[in-house]
Amino acid sequence: MATSTLERIHNGPEGFSGVSATPEWAEEIKRLARQRNATILAHNYQLPEIQDIADHVGDSLALSRIAAEVPEETIVFCGVHFMAETAKILSPEKTVLIPDERAGCSLADSITADDLRAWKAEFPDAVVVSYVNTTAEVKGLTDICCTSSNAVDVVASIDPEREVLFLPDQFLGAHVKRVTGRENMQIWAGECHVHAGINGDELTEQARTHPDAELFVHPECGCATSALYLAGEGSFPADRVHILSTGGMIDAAKASRSTQVLVATEVGMLHQLRKAAPGIDFQAVNDRASCKYMKMITPAALLRCLTEGADEVHVDPETAARARTSVQRMIEIGNPGGGE
Ligand code: 13P
Ligand code: SF4
Repeated sequence: MATSTLERIHNGPEGFSGVSATPEWAEEIKRLARQRNATILAHNYQLPEIQDIADHVGDSLALSRIAAEVPEETIVFCGVHFMAETAKILSPEKTVLIPDERAGCSLADSITADDLRAWKAEFPDAVVVSYVNTTAEVKGLTDICCTSSNAVDVVASIDPEREVLFLPDQFLGAHVKRVTGRENMQIWAGECHVHAGINGDELTEQARTHPDAELFVHPECGCATSALYLAGEGSFPADRVHILSTGGMIDAAKASRSTQVLVATEVGMLHQLRKAAPGIDFQAVNDRASCKYMKMITPAALLRCLTEGADEVHVDPETAARARTSVQRMIEIGNPGGGE
């Protein structure tokens, strides 16, 4: 192996800080992963070089399902903390590593376990549905978890007579309420700062200047309602507006006959979309929509993680046991690809 990169990586004064995604880096990542009997999972919002080195890339539901089944002893989760925590809940006997444990999520931070206890006390007979973007403690107080790709199926599976508490994302909640037509649904007023920032004005402007494009919108976006409004009032053809999870976007891209697609979600998504459908011109509705937490997983952080076996993700076994039932119900409900 060439001196410079790896010697600098492992011994150099700057430690891992000067590391970038060179072919030597890729070779070393693969070697260390084999040595640890580790599989690398990456979310669709990861940096392109992290997605390209991963064994599996997908949305949060697909990655949870993979984490529950992989044969390797160690899971390296290139995503944010709640995702790695979910993998640990599903596979408590495995070692779960995240390249940077500071990779949080503003949406998961928008509700605490105490908040949820207080809310449940107000609606003691309600069924609690929590988005997977929550802490393990919140999941432990939940009846069924969901992700953006199966939220509609999860809510539709609940007795229509029962009140539902849906948390924490207000835009996903509004989307589910719209699609299921359910009235007895209380929605927590949380949001993801990245998706909430993709607003209706930007979307309207993009739709106006790209009249022939299709539109893929993640249901966490502040502009999801605007997209449907544009379709409803006829300024954008309804059959070209698709509200999709990140995994659902990949499936839709493969099936699309359009030459241009406007994408309303975190910009990391463009990498997998361009790989899935190279003939389509994918454009971000907001090219500043980048999740700083997802981007903490750098080539240097991944190398450090595999070298040092850190950061290891721990979930208190009692909390994990409480959370497991709701997470397991989540991975059993809904189609694998997700969709509208
Ligand atoms: P997906 O469930 O679509 O992968 O989204 C996860 C997420 O964090 C969205 O911001
Ligand atoms: Fe959380 Fe938003 Fe980042 Fe997704 S994009 S991980 S919801 S902060």
